[in-house]
Amino acid sequence: MRCTTTALLATLASTVSAQAGDWQQCGGMNWSGATICGGTAGCVKINDYYSQCQPGAAPTVPQPTPAPQPEPQQPQPSEVPSSGAPAGSGPGKTLQTGYYWIRAVAAPNFHKYMQTKPLYATGSALLGDYTTAGQFQIVDGQLVQLVSAPGEPAKLLYGVVSETRYINDNSLSVTFSETKNTYGKFAWQGDGLTWTVAGVTRPNASAWYVCTGQKLYINLGNYLYQTPAGCADQTIHYYNDKTANN
Ligand SMILES: *[C@@H]1O[C@H](CO)[C@@H](O)[C@H](O)[C@H]1NC(C)=O
Ligand SMILES: *[C@@H]1O[C@H](CO)[C@@H](O)[C@H](O)[C@H]1NC(C)=O
Repeated sequence: MRCTTTALLATLASTVSAQAGDWQQCGGMNWSGATICGGTAGCVKINDYYSQCQPGAAPTVPQPTPAPQPEPQQPQPSEVPSSGAPAGSGPGKTLQTGYYWIRAVAAPNFHKYMQTKPLYATGSALLGDYTTAGQFQIVDGQLVQLVSAPGEPAKLLYGVVSETRYINDNSLSVTFSETKNTYGKFAWQGDGLTWTVAGVTRPNASAWYVCTGQKLYINLGNYLYQTPAGCADQTIHYYNDKTANN
């Protein structure tokens, strides 16, 4: 009886770890982590380097070119998990040199700050509480997030824009990844965060949506016009006070 229970638990554990959670990476070039999404999520290709579990997406076959599967995992305390694991412990509550907070300054997301879920790890960009605000800068058109703690070597994640269009066929998702963005460029316009790409004419390059789960999308359409259900129009802005505030 005891043996049976142990075996069952082991089976369950390996089943769980073989599935990526919502908004986690589930594929991409050389990806060796989970390629199956749990729950109701489907694995959606963002680009050659990154696929993501998106709730409600049609369950799709995971990406090709998986790296050779690692040996069956044995728990090892020092092991750095490759999927959905914190990429860093976070840059702390004080703004690090060269970085900015990014936040909305209008309802319904007044003083909600850009961050990832899970925090300081690969995952979707969203607007959340000031106590968990991420720190960002723009370098060569890349939106860069600092995810390491002060005093540690800088660990960076990059805001990757989907070429796939989502909500109303007019929204692009932004996901933080260890791989650089290859689609378009981020820039500041005044203190507003913009994104542009050759071949796509945007009426307002600083137009964003904040939709279900506080997820951020680039709004390719007009600001405050035909806003999709479940989304709010926002512009988002850098803020460089020492601490994020409410
Ligand atoms: C994938 O692995 C190959 C072989 O090791 C390597 O040449 C290539 O740069 C890797 N690609 C990425 C995106 O890491
Ligand atoms: C985009 O829309 C915002 C909000 O209405 C506005 O403040 C900003 O000036 C607009 N930018 C451009 C380039 O039209």
